[in-house]
Order: sequence, then structure tokens, then C-alpha cells
Amino acid sequence: MLIQKPADLQPSEITPPELYARRREFLKTAAVVGAAVLLPRGVVQAATDDDLKLTPYKDVTSYNNFYEFGSGKTDPAEYAGSLKTKPWTVTVEGHCEKPGQYALEDFLAPHTSEERIYRLRCVEAWSMVIPWLGIPLAKILPRFQPTASAKYVEFTTLFDPAQMPGQKTRLLPWPYIEGLRMDEAMHPLTLLATGLYGKELPNQNGAPLRLVVPWKYGFKSIKSIVKIRFTDQPPVTSWNREAPQEYGFYANVNPDVDHPRWSQKKERRIGEFFRRDTLPFNGYADQVAGLYANMDLRKNF
Ligand code: MTE
Repeated sequence: MLIQKPADLQPSEITPPELYARRREFLKTAAVVGAAVLLPRGVVQAATDDDLKLTPYKDVTSYNNFYEFGSGKTDPAEYAGSLKTKPWTVTVEGHCEKPGQYALEDFLAPHTSEERIYRLRCVEAWSMVIPWLGIPLAKILPRFQPTASAKYVEFTTLFDPAQMPGQKTRLLPWPYIEGLRMDEAMHPLTLLATGLYGKELPNQNGAPLRLVVPWKYGFKSIKSIVKIRFTDQPPVTSWNREAPQEYGFYANVNPDVDHPRWSQKKERRIGEFFRRDTLPFNGYADQVAGLYANMDLRKNF
């Protein structure tokens, strides 16, 4: 990114990098709340950094994948209203000292949601930039005291065909299940989201609680979670079970490994016309590539 330096700018006025980063955060937040901001001199260019330009709320909430409500992109927004998200219980089980059933509020307490702007890259080669509200999973899991045998975490979506009519079909093996290796689950980027754009999660986006793992294809980010289980074996996940040759357990965004039926080199940012290059680990390689050192990412796709 090119930051222009006006000729009349005194060296003392040049924004130091730390401050620039903070202002950039501020700009992002300001964009979220829709506030009109007077940009300080020298950071105007930051506003044109379109890599993290937010996808409009309307697109984020009307173009979805949530097969429990149908396989069409507009089905979730149309039909997810039937999902009752209050009260909500999360069951914790498996290899841990403190299993149990927790009301959602107790499950999340004492943490409060923070904002994280993440790119979400779907395996179908579209992407969005979403200002999530959530709590890092790493803050929540230790409370249940996973034991040394807890190598993986399995997540399960609600199973209730009366509320989720897609579950009356054979679109996928129900309930929807996803999983992470323990170190992935404990990575600071991994978020349990409770909201977006400063509001509660809309049902179609996975209310009241969904996972967001920004360096992995979107299908890992399981919605409407009712159960978390610590396991010693890799969880059998829904898409992997449905089509193992197409959807691996790791599902790290990787432009060099094609889906058997299409390329993963490019993506279409929802709302944009031109396609852009897909980045390894969805642009989060600096933070997460180390988790997969010594692993063959073609084999472990
Ligand atoms: N979770 C459940 N329970 N059911 C689903 O069908 N779809 C996944 C993921 N989580 C899905 C799910 C897929 S394929 C994607 S790309 C993301 O949710 C989409 O999230 P979004 O609709 O909030 O953009």
C-alpha cells in the first residue's frame, strides 16, 4: 500500500507506525458504527485499503450457507426465523474435568465480546469481510479443564428438524459437526462469535453462537452450536463424511490445492466485480502457518 506524503508535511507530523495501526483500527471501528470521522492528516490513504473493506451488512445477512434451512444462498435469511435461540444451552463433554450443561450466558461468562474484523473465505470461492463480535475460544475452553487426552475439540449444531426444516432432507448427515485440533482451537484468532456489525448474530449467520476460524474455509465455522466435546481422535466432520475426497479435516485456505471440481486460486469478494487472488491461509499465514510446520498440506488438505 502506498502512503502519500504531502510535500508540506513536517517529519514530526508523520504518523508513527504504532499510531497508524491504532488509527487504522479506529477507522475500521468507525466504519462499523457508521460514524462520520474527520481523518487526521497522513492517514487518508488508510481509508482506501480495500482488503479489509467491510462487506455490507445486507450481503453478510442475506447471502448465506446454512443447509439446515436449505441449500440456496437466500434460504437461510428467508427461513431461519423459525429458530428459537433463547434460552440456549451448551453441553460440554468428553475428555475434561468439568463437563456439564451451561446456559449460554454462563458458558460465556465472565468474558465480554470483542470486535474482530476477519475475512471469511468460502470453499465455493467467494469471500466477505465481516466485523464479528465474539470471545476467543482460548479464553473459554480452559475453564472446563480439558485433560491431557483432549487432542481435538468437536462442535455440534442443534438437531431439531421442526425448527430446522433442512434436517428433514438428506442434504448432509445431521447434525452438522465440525472439529479442530486443540492447538487450532486455542489459537488467538479462533473466535466464538455472538454477533456481527455490533449487533446480536442474526439467525441466518448462526445465532446464538458460532465458530469463526478465519484461516480455514468457511465450512469449518459451524453455526448454532449446542455441544462441545473434547476428544482424543479427530472428529468425524459433516462435509468430510459427505465427500472425503473434496473436503478434508484441515480445510486450510490454500490457493495451491484445487478442489477436485474447481480451482481455489481466485475468489470473488461479495459485492465486487473483479476476482482477486486467494491468499495462503486466507491471508493469516504469518499467524498460523507455524501450526502446520512439517505437515504436507497437499495430503492434509
Ligand atoms: N454451519 C451449519 N450448522 N450448517 C451449515 O450449512 N455452512 C458453513 C458454515 N457453517 C454451515 C455452517 C459454510 S459452507 C459456510 S461458507 C459458512 O457457514 C457461511 O457463513 P455465513 O453464512 O455466516 O457467511
